[in-house]
Amino acid sequence: MTVETTLSIIKPDAVAAGNIGAILQMISDAGLKIKAMKMVQMSQKEAEGFYAVHKERPFFGELVEFMTSGPAVVSILEGENAIARYRELMGATNPEQAEEGTIRKNFATNIQNNAVHGSDAPETAAVETAYFFSSIEQVN
Ligand code: CMP
Repeated sequence: MTVETTLSIIKPDAVAAGNIGAILQMISDAGLKIKAMKMVQMSQKEAEGFYAVHKERPFFGELVEFMTSGPAVVSILEGENAIARYRELMGATNPEQAEEGTIRKNFATNIQNNAVHGSDAPETAAVETAYFFSSIEQVN
């Protein structure tokens, strides 16, 4: 097992619904350690840059609109196998397919307004954590 870091976003739907605390509790209960955290209000450019890999998708415009609709909470999570463990804790992208006990089963509304984001691989985790945090914003 390797110790990994991954980027988590508590998205604007979950923040607006008052679910920051409940989601952080689930992250903590899963044994993932928070190395950095802040609340951000993304601009259109910032959201477009973050989701650049999806820019050809039909849902891109709506996704950017959603991600800029209100504050989000970004954090860096660390732990053994943290990328896969956080994705398991989040549940499927579409909450209709998410397992019981997952964040998206509990808090997501639909495939777009799905409460949380987590990096999908070590390479994307490195890019995504650096997108929001400088090295001095991360605790050792
Ligand atoms: P996330 O895991 O952050 O990665 C890309 C995001 O795009 C995804 O969560 C959803 O918020 C959104 N998304 C993915 N697929 C769709 C879709 N088919 N329709 C609308 N939004 C989507």
